[in-house]
Amino acid sequence: MSVSERLIAAAVEARTRAVAPYSSFAVGAAVESVDGAIVTGCNIENASYGLTICAERVALFKAVSEGIRRFAHLVVAADTAEPTPPCGACRQVIWELCGDIPVTLVTLDGRRTTHTARALLPHPFGLRGGTSR
Ligand code: THU
Repeated sequence: MSVSERLIAAAVEARTRAVAPYSSFAVGAAVESVDGAIVTGCNIENASYGLTICAERVALFKAVSEGIRRFAHLVVAADTAEPTPPCGACRQVIWELCGDIPVTLVTLDGRRTTHTARALLPHPFGLRGGTSR
């Protein structure tokens, strides 16, 4: 499925709101629902480092808390030479909340790659230890 420029722009803009004083690595995310609603997220770091949350999970948790449960596409934006893939924890959350959606990774200078959620997490931990979500 092709990614909308609107979704990419939303992820790039969300990145500017990152709170990343410890890593100085700002990430933006934007998720689109099957109805076309867009919800954004940015990474938010904390002095107690383990409390930091990635941009992807902020976007997805915001969306779920707003009642959105069916997702069509996720975009992750970072200012890197190569597109930044989601961390392992985010891959688990993406798979469980979104299923096998396309995940597009973009850099600020226009590089783009798209992976399916299933390709990012080939052997997911699922419901009661199985692979189903
Ligand atoms: N981070 C994300 O927000 N998303 C990713 O996909 C990778 C990592 C954040 C977490 C932390 O604030 C910073 O990037 C450095 O790891």
